[in-house]
Amino acid sequence: MAFNPLSERGIPIEKQFRNWSELNVQPYDKENVHPFSRCRGIVMNGIEVESIMFSHQMARNTADPKVKQTLALVRRTEAQQQKAINWLIPGDESTLEVTIGYEQVAVDLTAWIAQNEPDAYLKQVYEFGLLEDFDHLYRYANLLEMLEGKKAEEIVGDLTEIMPGRPTIFEHRDPRDEIRRPMTSLAADPQSILNALTVMSAEQQTMNFYMTIGNRPQEKLARGLYLEIAEIEEQHVSHYESILDPTATWLTNLVFHEYNECWLYYSFMQQEPDRRVKALYELHLNMEIEHLRLACEMMRKIEGRDPAELLPASIEQPLIFQDNKAYVREVLASQVDLTAKGTEFVPIGDLRSDHRYFSYQAIVNEGGVPSEEVIEKARGQLGEDYRLETEGPHPVPGLVRETERGEASTDYATKVAA
Ligand SMILES: [Fe+2]
Ligand SMILES: [Fe+2]
Ligand SMILES: [Fe+2]
Ligand SMILES: [Fe+2]
Repeated sequence: MAFNPLSERGIPIEKQFRNWSELNVQPYDKENVHPFSRCRGIVMNGIEVESIMFSHQMARNTADPKVKQTLALVRRTEAQQQKAINWLIPGDESTLEVTIGYEQVAVDLTAWIAQNEPDAYLKQVYEFGLLEDFDHLYRYANLLEMLEGKKAEEIVGDLTEIMPGRPTIFEHRDPRDEIRRPMTSLAADPQSILNALTVMSAEQQTMNFYMTIGNRPQEKLARGLYLEIAEIEEQHVSHYESILDPTATWLTNLVFHEYNECWLYYSFMQQEPDRRVKALYELHLNMEIEHLRLACEMMRKIEGRDPAELLPASIEQPLIFQDNKAYVREVLASQVDLTAKGTEFVPIGDLRSDHRYFSYQAIVNEGGVPSEEVIEKARGQLGEDYRLETEGPHPVPGLVRETERGEASTDYATKVAA
């Protein structure tokens, strides 16, 4: 069913504010929540955080007091939306359990986006990032079992597999190799813009989250793993933000941010099995329709442009959280050995030995790498590393569990060094 937020009526902006008890929502029950409900909440929190921070940045770059006021008005309701969504996470869900949810988002959100990205280069950008977050899930899952005696399958369900991706140790690249080719909004499919805004916001929130909570564990190894992966999330934000059109005006960006929020609440409202959360998404969608209307009105007035010319005629396709196991295995099998060279992706073996990748690797990986240590320690403590391989052994011979490996296979590291 097609849905056009431009022709819907939302909730008037001055009627959007809620009181403290309405915002202080009853958290979900962590034993019974659907894994993808947890994921949708994590995505929407990241989207709202981006909407707030984007609005602050725009306000700091705007002289017109009327625009500043409209931004402030809308931003306050975005801030309320962020609280209502993020406060769904219960206090008894540990930081590490929440972390597993964040990385499941990074896997299954990016997998849907990659499979629904019309541009071949951008699809490659998503598949590249996907394999890195897929590996983070595996590293944190091992930490979770060691520190809390809990198996990550209790959090992700059987919807997402857990096994090595592109090993985190190899993800550390020279910052200049994180910058991709930007799209141009005029030529790009609007879906490409929505895809990019969505994944960028989710990655940015993951970066924010690890920057903030990564120093909460007492164990040195846990603190080390968080800081190492937090640095990769910083890379991922650089990677994804660089595909957006840098020449788009602040108002164009604002219109797309609001449209994106409409798309996502509209999508998630349809899939959400928890009736209370579904109602929250529906309420927020009705708020976003008004945010979009206000942004469009400013664009018409200030830039004399019709936003309908930039936006899709309607939302045809909802973003869906679904099982992507077969697809992820396919990407793993064909792309695990890729690295970035400038804006392109090449097999790591193609880099010359004097490439800046190796100098950066030598600096950060000197003196021990937490993402490797966590697996070594898990092997010692648990007998073998924790994995959730529901569809058979790992599709990459070098990453098959040592105990299941034949003589002929080689280690990923040896393959890379060779
Ligand atoms: Fe919002
Ligand atoms: Fe990640
Ligand atoms: Fe990431
Ligand atoms: Fe909004």
